[in-house]
Amino acid sequence: MKVIYTAKDMQELSIQLQRQGKTIGFVPTMGFLHEGHLALLKQARAENDVVVLSIFVNPTQFGPNEDFDTYPRDFKRDERLAKAEEADYLFYPSVDEMYPGQASISISVTNRVDVLCGAKRPGHFDGVATVLTKLFHLVQPKRAYFGKKDAQQVAVVHGLITDFKFPIELVAVDTVREDDGLAKSSRNVNLLDAERNEAPALYRSLQEAKQLVESGERDVATIKAQIERTIKNNTRGTIDYVAIYSYPELEPLNKLDGQFIIALAIQFSKARLIDNIIMAI
Ligand code: PAJ
Repeated sequence: MKVIYTAKDMQELSIQLQRQGKTIGFVPTMGFLHEGHLALLKQARAENDVVVLSIFVNPTQFGPNEDFDTYPRDFKRDERLAKAEEADYLFYPSVDEMYPGQASISISVTNRVDVLCGAKRPGHFDGVATVLTKLFHLVQPKRAYFGKKDAQQVAVVHGLITDFKFPIELVAVDTVREDDGLAKSSRNVNLLDAERNEAPALYRSLQEAKQLVESGERDVATIKAQIERTIKNNTRGTIDYVAIYSYPELEPLNKLDGQFIIALAIQFSKARLIDNIIMAI
């Protein structure tokens, strides 16, 4: 596995690979890799000639009071894990490399960002769309892999690829969980011990909601209230949101119908965790 540090080297390499007729599978990440990231890498490995992983903690998707500085980083460990998954190239640019000087264009996501994390983290998805536009131009993948844990991100990336006509297939991969159900996340290491013990209640509350739906409940307010009860009774976290929307449109629903997402975000002392399930009736 080769590590690439500059935008120019990355782009020259992908142009060369494309000339050779190789398909590139791309897994963009912010590093501190866990089995969720590795699942994306495995699938990319199985479906493409060449696998490119990027590690870049993207400052433009963090708000002023968010955790950019404390976001966990461990490049050496990441490098080892990526090598073990047989990634071919690891693109690891600096902030200056990705954002040199004053920007002259900004990307603003206009659809499906007034709900869920988009509503709570203003500008977050603009930063995600901006960095992915740059990364897509540098890596020129045939397929790009994203996790369903960040379901709104998948919806936004779908919009980016469609609107800007990137010749890229978006592949959405199921959420990988700990044995106790907690969704794997780089941010889990920032939970206090007591919070880590409580955190499985997030997924448990979603499973309870699923059972309610399966037993015939269709009223969105009732299902949300049940989730909120479980979170409040079992964690010291504060609820940022518990929400149910149609998926992938992310339109409000009063009564369940078609495909929908049940999503939550819970703020613990040093980590904000998100999780969701997508169901259809
Ligand atoms: P990051 O949080 O590092 O996640 C990188 C990719 O891994 C995302 O597509 C995310 O959905 C996926 N992922 C995270 N946890 C997962 C889990 N438990 N199971 C399956 N997939 C999981 O998302 C980002 O980085 C950034 O916003 C990025 C797209 C790289 C743009 O900066």
